[in-house]
Amino acid sequence: MSFVFAVCQAGAEAALKNEVSRRHPELRLAFSRPGFVTLKTPDSRGFTEQFQLKSVFARSWGHSVGKVVGTDGNEMARQVGELLTAKFTAEQLATCGHLHVWERDRFMPGSRDFEPGVSVLAAEVGRILEASEFNAERQLIVNAIPEPNSMIIDCVLVEPGEWWIGWHIAEQGPSCWPGGVPQIELPEEAVSRTWLKMVEGLMWSGLPVKPGDAVAEIGSSPGGSCQALLGLGLTVTGIDPAEMDEALLKEEKFTHVRGRAKDLPRRLFSNFRWLASDASAVPNYSLDTIEAIVTHPSVKIEGLLLTLKFTDWKLADEIPLYHKRIRSWGYQNVRSRQLAFNRREICVAATKD
Ligand SMILES: C[S@@+](CC[C@H](N)C(=O)[O-])C[C@H]1O[C@@H](n2cnc3c(N)ncnc32)[C@H](O)[C@@H]1O
Repeated sequence: MSFVFAVCQAGAEAALKNEVSRRHPELRLAFSRPGFVTLKTPDSRGFTEQFQLKSVFARSWGHSVGKVVGTDGNEMARQVGELLTAKFTAEQLATCGHLHVWERDRFMPGSRDFEPGVSVLAAEVGRILEASEFNAERQLIVNAIPEPNSMIIDCVLVEPGEWWIGWHIAEQGPSCWPGGVPQIELPEEAVSRTWLKMVEGLMWSGLPVKPGDAVAEIGSSPGGSCQALLGLGLTVTGIDPAEMDEALLKEEKFTHVRGRAKDLPRRLFSNFRWLASDASAVPNYSLDTIEAIVTHPSVKIEGLLLTLKFTDWKLADEIPLYHKRIRSWGYQNVRSRQLAFNRREICVAATKD
């Protein structure tokens, strides 16, 4: 029997399970906890080698090796060593240089002072595993970003005394980040935590934004995401009926257009290269607004970075329809991910080429 594990936002498990049932009917749901889901895989030959979990909601995923349970960290670390030496040959382990240790999410990001990332407990368990006898020979590096296409050993703290061990191939981007969370911190001067969302969205999507590019953001108040864009040297227009934070209004490369995007003349958008949206509206309302803009003949926007908000998790089932709609505007390359710093929402990146 073999299993795949996936970690997601706490509360997104049902959306993840529905998505997996639709996109991977060969997998069967098994054990799950908030923020952590395991799936039984078919026993067919070659399955593991070829498998790629296709999921918007899986922040990180891997192949399960088993779990260790206990109250003594050093003893648990010894059991981790036993599990890994039973599973892998010495040659296989010799090709692996990294260990990622993280804790499943306890709360919605941005709630109760919680933000995803390597917690104090995960860092402590990482130190225990790093100093373990098993690692004396292997010298696995803990919670670092590997070279693309590296094998990573995963240790997910599902409970403080219950560690699930697995492995994955870190191809690039989020699969190289411990737990699928980029190692970024909210700067003190950020006026809202959406700074994190914008930075992560750009890192994940790889949109080739460059200094001097003009970008508009619909739903820009109070201004965290605009600050992130300004920090990259872009010229930013924020569109929002609400006030922007004073820190933004002082910025030379920032313009506030006060109003609802739908009420503005389309030619306002004719000089932008990129369009971002974070408006507090249901996805179809946001998409109606964006469609009217990007299909106007004067508009030449090359790429979109959209936050689609789910007032109801059922809207997650509509993601394939949202993609189809965006493609129909000429953006052939459309991808979605629930970012680590997203709340009950997803990030959609779309480009024309
Ligand atoms: C989540 S907040 C945006 C946060 C912002 N991106 C930041 O970085 O601080 C959502 C915003 O969407 C704005 N909004 C809602 N509907 C809108 C519309 N049709 N056009 C422009 N802004 C809209 C609201 O006024 C609100 O300020």
